[in-house]
Amino acid sequence: LTPPVIEELTQEFGVRLWKARLDDSGDLTHLLDPAERERAARFRQPRHSHRFTAARGALRLILGALTGQAPGALRFHYSETGKPSLTGGPHFNLSHSGGLAVCAVSAQGPLGVDIEHIRANTDQERIAARYFAPDECAQAVGAGHFFRVWTLREAILKATGLGVAGMARLRDQTVAGRAEVEFNGTIWRMAEFEPEPGYAGALALARDH
Ligand SMILES: CC(C)(COP(=O)(O)OP(=O)(O)OC[C@H]1O[C@@H](n2cnc3c(N)ncnc32)[C@H](O)[C@@H]1OP(=O)(O)O)[C@@H](O)C(=O)NCCC(=O)NCCS
Repeated sequence: LTPPVIEELTQEFGVRLWKARLDDSGDLTHLLDPAERERAARFRQPRHSHRFTAARGALRLILGALTGQAPGALRFHYSETGKPSLTGGPHFNLSHSGGLAVCAVSAQGPLGVDIEHIRANTDQERIAARYFAPDECAQAVGAGHFFRVWTLREAILKATGLGVAGMARLRDQTVAGRAEVEFNGTIWRMAEFEPEPGYAGALALARDH
């Protein structure tokens, strides 16, 4: 677990980010609640179960330290679409891709974070045509650009809590290169970051809160 990694985001946005290398983590099952343990047990591959447990465990360690509560005693609430939150704050969001997880925390307002391992994706053009704004689509050649636009979109959708179900509604908005994007009645401040070489990362934070 590495403490705040991206200085600018801390200074400009008041958002703190942690990253965790999930495959290096010890077993954190003891920190999870029964429902989380059940989810962990449902993964077919032990590696995926370990990564889920490590990410949730890391999230609990961070939020426990920030709230002064025992990590294992934190009780998450879930929106209808599954976004976890804590009564009384802080706002947080988690993303994992491959063996890496990033947790973003803000005392200020709702936020969403998304990271993706940049890889060859045969469906890239089809997905871009369906979900990206026309100008982004034209540029969405190459995995680097594709994952950049994709994480920006996912960060907004995760901030709202809509998740991928909102992807089509966001289509007409250009997100790449924009400092702010208005969506679902909120202005979202946008930032991009590189969690590690070979990964794309994006963050959306409610501006007025
Ligand atoms: C959330 C979602 C966008 C995940 O995208 P992803 O790129 O595969 O995964 P990420 O690693 O970036 O994010 C997953 C994490 O975000 C959080 N999360 C879950 N649902 C979320 C939501 N609706 N909004 C924001 N964050 C969410 C969780 O912490 C989750 O990780 P965990 O369960 O291991 O703790 C996608 O799964 C989704 O849209 N889910 C909603 C499904 C839905 O609408 N269900 C309602 C029934 S129709």
